[in-house]
Amino acid sequence: MRILSGIQPSGEPHLGNYFGAIEQHLRLQTQGDAFYFIADYHALTTVHDAARLRELTIDVAATYLSLGLDPTKATFFRQSDVPEVTELTWLLSVATGMGLLERAHSYKDKIAHKIVPSLGLFTYPALMAADILIYKSDLVPVGQDQVQHVEIAQDMAQSFNAAFKRQVFVRPEPRLSATPKVPGTDGAKMSKSYNNAIPIFARGKPLKKMVGAIATDSKDYTSEALDPKTCNVFALYGLFANDEEKETMRIRYVSDRSFGYGHAKQLLMAKIEDKFGAATERYEALKANPAELDDVLREGARRARAIARATVDEAREAVGLGKMLL
Ligand code: TRP
Repeated sequence: MRILSGIQPSGEPHLGNYFGAIEQHLRLQTQGDAFYFIADYHALTTVHDAARLRELTIDVAATYLSLGLDPTKATFFRQSDVPEVTELTWLLSVATGMGLLERAHSYKDKIAHKIVPSLGLFTYPALMAADILIYKSDLVPVGQDQVQHVEIAQDMAQSFNAAFKRQVFVRPEPRLSATPKVPGTDGAKMSKSYNNAIPIFARGKPLKKMVGAIATDSKDYTSEALDPKTCNVFALYGLFANDEEKETMRIRYVSDRSFGYGHAKQLLMAKIEDKFGAATERYEALKANPAELDDVLREGARRARAIARATVDEAREAVGLGKMLL
């Protein structure tokens, strides 16, 4: 079973990224033939700064490798090292109705927010369909916001196969991650754009400052019971703790009048440092050695590209272009 997902670089990775996507990607690498790539072509729809793009790419690579992506199990590469996906985007697009892409929610949202769309933004889902179909992916783990894009890939596969009367592409299925809600420091969904994110790789003082900034109500813990159900600190702690630890903290909120939000924050900090301490060191070391990252990504690209080329050759055959003369 081929599992595939693309990771669009978006800056410093945070706990929302970890519990929403990274954790599931790492878990799945042992459950099938996993392909994960850094979606740098897609990033170009928003990033127009060459140095920044390079930096963002290194960040994603170092993040995944330091957290446990095993390049001997999963094929890990940069999208742009397989330029065949852009060729396939074209072949798919001639069998795709404009309406299919005009109905894409993420595109419509951006238009509604008065973003002037580039052609690239409009064809974003077509490139994503090529990413998926070129590796004949069976399963595509994504967040809720990307499910429609996987459905678009299903439609494009079917219309291509029907138009050219060849079963070149297999139907991919989206797999939603059972994402717990990860609250940011203000209680809203954790997101880089809301400025409420706790980075995975923050340590010491900066981490302490951010955990300290998690919003709580103003109850006086020495005289009032605290409510774990509405508390952001408790919710974040619960992502790291086992059932027993959660229960212990719950009881302290409700009935230990020497235990306040400051104490809960200390326990949360300890959990974060415990879980990500060793990874943080690996992350820093990898970022300082981009040549090593390039070696891993090159090997991944080699494997991925061979498969991609074979699929595009099949598609070229189906439409009548045939093998390239050169
Ligand atoms: N659009 C996806 C996102 O923003 C990233 C992505 C690009 C992707 N190509 C993909 C995800 C193919 C799954 C499969 O999260």
